Amino acid sequence: MSKILAFGASSSNNSINKKLASFVANKIAPQGAILIDLNDYEMPIYSDDRKIVDGIPEKAYEFKNLIKDSDGIVISLAEHNGSYTAAFKNIYDWISVIEEIVWNYKPILLLSASNGLRGGKSVMSAALKRFSLQSKFEIPNFCLPSFNENFSINDGVLDKALNAKLEEQLAIFKSQLSESQ
Ligand SMILES: Cc1cc2nc3c(=O)[nH]c(=O)nc-3n(C[C@H](O)[C@H](O)[C@H](O)COP(=O)(O)O)c2cc1C
Repeated sequence: MSKILAFGASSSNNSINKKLASFVANKIAPQGAILIDLNDYEMPIYSDDRKIVDGIPEKAYEFKNLIKDSDGIVISLAEHNGSYTAAFKNIYDWISVIEEIVWNYKPILLLSASNGLRGGKSVMSAALKRFSLQSKFEIPNFCLPSFNENFSINDGVLDKALNAKLEEQLAIFKSQLSESQ
């Protein structure tokens, strides 16, 4: 059973992206999904000066170890002002100064959800561009628009066409997991 690290890239307690990441990770690996909360990895805002004076926070190493210990990663990106949430970007910045290869070449499934019609397309585009620079695979991805209408905790993605697209991307991610193990 694959160990899948999963999180919503948001600090909201009621995060729709956390719900989507959790549903999808449990579908892929019912016994092996490790769902984390970004609030447990809150750190001072990254600065070069802070890094020199205080060093890299322990929580950044803990996060990095979760990546290393996983077989694959499911991230559902929340979009704030067209980009990453500050909560996710800060963790991303800190872990990126530990080691050059941030996601350790693990297979990644990128999701995004919003209640708007674009489903977080802008943050998805930014992440795909960046994450692809350090990926051995073409990164499977899925944007879920109008979350409140299109998602149920028990049944997942309700719209048939959207669900078919998610299933297609899940199949790609699963084959990448098998290939990398
Ligand atoms: C500061 C802020 C900026 C936002 N910017 C965007 C945006 O650029 N595009 C978008 O689709 N939604 C935007 N939203 C709405 C979020 O997508 C919405 O709050 C969503 O629930 C965030 O995901 P989460 O519930 O996983 O935190 C913004 C919300 C906040 C609070």
